[in-house]
Amino acid sequence: MTQEQPRGQWASRLGFVLAAGGSAVGLGNIWRFPYATGQNGGALFVLVYLGCVLVIGLPILIAEIVIGRHAHRAPVGAFIHIKGEDSAWRIIGWMSVVSGFIILSYYSVVAGWTLNYTLMGITHFFTPCVDNVCAPRDPQQIQDAFGTLVAAGDINVFWHFVFMLVTVAIVLGGVQRGIEAWSRFLMPALLIILVVLMADAVLQPGFGRALGFLFAPRFDKLTADGVLQALGQSFFTLSLGLGAMLTYGSYLSKQSDIVGASTTIAVLDTAVALLACLVVFPIIFSFSMEPEAGPGLVFKSMPIALSMMPGSTLLTILFFGLLFFAALTSAISLLEVVVASVMEQVGWTRFRATLVMGTLIFVFGIPSALAGSGGVFASWSKIFGMNFFDTMDHLSVNWLLPIGGFFIALFAGWVMPEDARRGEFEAGSKARFLYLPWLWTLRLVVPVAILVLWLFSVGILSHDWLR
Ligand code: PHE
Repeated sequence: MTQEQPRGQWASRLGFVLAAGGSAVGLGNIWRFPYATGQNGGALFVLVYLGCVLVIGLPILIAEIVIGRHAHRAPVGAFIHIKGEDSAWRIIGWMSVVSGFIILSYYSVVAGWTLNYTLMGITHFFTPCVDNVCAPRDPQQIQDAFGTLVAAGDINVFWHFVFMLVTVAIVLGGVQRGIEAWSRFLMPALLIILVVLMADAVLQPGFGRALGFLFAPRFDKLTADGVLQALGQSFFTLSLGLGAMLTYGSYLSKQSDIVGASTTIAVLDTAVALLACLVVFPIIFSFSMEPEAGPGLVFKSMPIALSMMPGSTLLTILFFGLLFFAALTSAISLLEVVVASVMEQVGWTRFRATLVMGTLIFVFGIPSALAGSGGVFASWSKIFGMNFFDTMDHLSVNWLLPIGGFFIALFAGWVMPEDARRGEFEAGSKARFLYLPWLWTLRLVVPVAILVLWLFSVGILSHDWLR
């Protein structure tokens, strides 16, 4: 049963770009990309990732918006609208709802850390004061603070709850005005503070080494799993493979140029990710920290650098506060996918769908919040080789998103009616000549590339040629 709901629209194309950009730019760029790069040896991973963004990500981004705007529905409804009630394609729609559900459940835990760090900034944890004289805390102690936070299960559950509460509150009120208005201000603010931080990073002794690490490929460093990670990261960072961009596209006006908007979003997103690395790695190398540190990388390195800068307290609050807002605009889009689909398919009101799904996601995220505290979930790690948090991240980013993207490409490329697809692509666009190149990339290059990268990562294709 598909139910018509009154649908909102973005106020302008710029509003859409900023909202979709707000979905894309998030923890994926500033938290996940640097640590994934660090774990996978640097430059070659960055190169594979950039290739994935250009050849696979951008075409799928356009495809999602094309499907969404044409169908005027969230993922499940969009497939049904185009292919009919009992089409097997609706399974792909439901899979995207599940991906959104799983990702938000642990994304919210990380977003909770940004809140905790903002508070640590406010209370001068990184720059303790004696008699009104404040000095940077010992870098080792700052690094250790992250381990202490992760091990404190109750604190993690608390911040996870607070973050979900805020996300639910915004989605409850209907998204467009909230997101559009906030993104308009937050995205430029985030860019400015990143550039300021980079100016500082250039002066660090480790800057040269960081450049080498990031841009001079070493061919023995990338594993097969790393290739899959680069693919998954390109999906994650562009919010692809689970219909988030499809849903946002469904709120886009018919005259807006999809190709231009998508390109802007992809460029913005990539710029922020690279900028984040240029800020983080000089600090890592200057303070002899490990690039392989994993999810704690940004939380350990940034406060150290910030604590030594003039105006450190303000900068720390600003950095983690903005990281929180970047996470929020992404989390909203994750919840919106789930809520919009449930509203359309089950016929619930926005109020009911948001409260029920928000609560379920919160509950499902509790094991991720407790993952670092050992205890009940220790045996999970023994069975799966990684804790609950990492399992959810691995499952969704390396598997669900690329699979979702694969089918979205096939759907937009082969299944969607030609006139509808072409009409959406060309509306308002100055780049109509790109239609056929885009179509055949979507039809052949994207599915084959995803398949090859996947076969490669599960070891069916040898990766000896990389050496
Ligand atoms: N793109 C977001 C980020 O980089 C995460 C996200 C993934 C948001 C999928 C929506 C959908 O943080």
